[in-house]
Amino acid sequence: MCKRLARASEVSGRETRIVYEDDMKISIFGLGYVGTVTSACFARNGHEVIGVDVNPLKVALLNDGKSPIVEDEIGDIVQAQVQNGRLRATADVDGAIADTDLSLICVGTPSNGNGSLSMSSVLNVTKSIALALRNKSQYHVVVVRSTVVPGTVNRQLIPLLERESGKRLGAGFGLCFNPEFLREGSSVRDFDAPPFTLVGVREEVTADMVRQLYAEIKAPFLTTSVEVAETVKYASNIYHALKISFANELGSYCKALGVDSHEVMDIFFQDAKLNLSKAYLRPGFAFGGSCLPKDLRALLYHARAHDLDLPLLESILPSNELHVKRAVDMILAQGKRKVGILGLSFKAGTDDLRESPLVRLTETLLGKGYDIRIYDRDVSMARLMGGNKEYIEKEIPHLSCLLARSLEEVVDFAEVIVIGNSNKEFGEVFSKRRSEQVVIDLVRMLADSGKSQPNYHGVCW
Ligand SMILES: NC(=O)c1ccc[n+]([C@@H]2O[C@H](COP(=O)([O-])OP(=O)(O)OC[C@H]3O[C@@H](n4cnc5c(N)ncnc54)[C@H](O)[C@@H]3O)[C@@H](O)[C@H]2O)c1
Repeated sequence: MCKRLARASEVSGRETRIVYEDDMKISIFGLGYVGTVTSACFARNGHEVIGVDVNPLKVALLNDGKSPIVEDEIGDIVQAQVQNGRLRATADVDGAIADTDLSLICVGTPSNGNGSLSMSSVLNVTKSIALALRNKSQYHVVVVRSTVVPGTVNRQLIPLLERESGKRLGAGFGLCFNPEFLREGSSVRDFDAPPFTLVGVREEVTADMVRQLYAEIKAPFLTTSVEVAETVKYASNIYHALKISFANELGSYCKALGVDSHEVMDIFFQDAKLNLSKAYLRPGFAFGGSCLPKDLRALLYHARAHDLDLPLLESILPSNELHVKRAVDMILAQGKRKVGILGLSFKAGTDDLRESPLVRLTETLLGKGYDIRIYDRDVSMARLMGGNKEYIEKEIPHLSCLLARSLEEVVDFAEVIVIGNSNKEFGEVFSKRRSEQVVIDLVRMLADSGKSQPNYHGVCW
């Protein structure tokens, strides 16, 4: 796909829509792992690419048709694209901005000594692009690919670009965040077949240009807010790190027992319902019940008996406790003493109260002298006749006497209403509550995250 047709600008309504009938002219700042692969692959896909780097060695190498990085397939692609004239490198920022329609920032963001992200390369390159934009009259799009912490683009990069370019976002230039998901070692294959192309963007005209840039890539094109896109990149990498450490700690435990860890995981993978799935990945309330806490404690005790340290697995129960405390603190912060709790069992559809985090939450509030009413139909039924009658009478008589007969009773009584589990009936609270009542939702009862509700707080959204 190396046709070179005319470019066209169309005016649709109040917005200028830039239509590329063919390849685009793009500049890529930073010729490291991400920048080199991105430059070479976009050139191979038909775009005209200028790579920009402050390192003269990398610029010279690329102009010689050699890749500045070692990576499968990349040497041949760079050589072919430099030879056919679609790829070149420079250190001249002004020239690169003047000659292109869109720039991708792929400079490094390494760790500082204290763990914070070093932003110096991103800030330097953004400033130099902004200064070059002063002399450019056409709309120019800046695409941030470097990994930056959520909030960076909106709070730091847009103000910096506006200040130094003298232009306004959406008028003189566009800016978006487009995280990179490639892995070193298979980066060309990852570039060609990403899970999706994700763009955090405010202006439609910029989203359109990026959509055209990726026209050759057959993957879902997702647009969202800049902060969500920035956060998805971290969620992904941190989840990958978590998975690796989980597998390694489990593997070490298996080895200590003489169990084949790979056979364990091969079977584990076959559960696509709970293990490899969306299950348990929605932010919500703490876990509890008769199995998870008990089994974690048993495994950790067993591992210690084999002189094994498993810091990741050991951190799970403290993390869970902290999450209960977070919910308690949210309730205390309301400064109101009458609290209605909807749900006492650890999840909807059961009367099982063993290790329910809602029992711990309620006991904490009770200990602080709060006035409590609880509504949980399953627990009330169990108190009357279920197998759990004895447990309720012996283990939590101080809570069972607080059980209300109906949701309405709790709503009439409470200043703060806590939705504790996802029993569908609790959704009725939103039509029955008074607007001055505070609702603290631990399970995201409302799909729109309660944005339409007054005095509504989600525990982790
Ligand atoms: N390496 C990966 O596999 C990978 C994958 C996804 C995302 N990322 C993210 O992409 C970004 C780039 O990572 P990388 O591994 O390619 O970095 P890298 O360190 O390999 O390369 C960065 C390049 O930027 C250049 N540079 C620095 N300041 C510059 C400036 N002012 N103008 C032009 N060039 C400049 C450097 O000379 C270097 O060549 C990082 O934020 C990283 O977190 C990396």
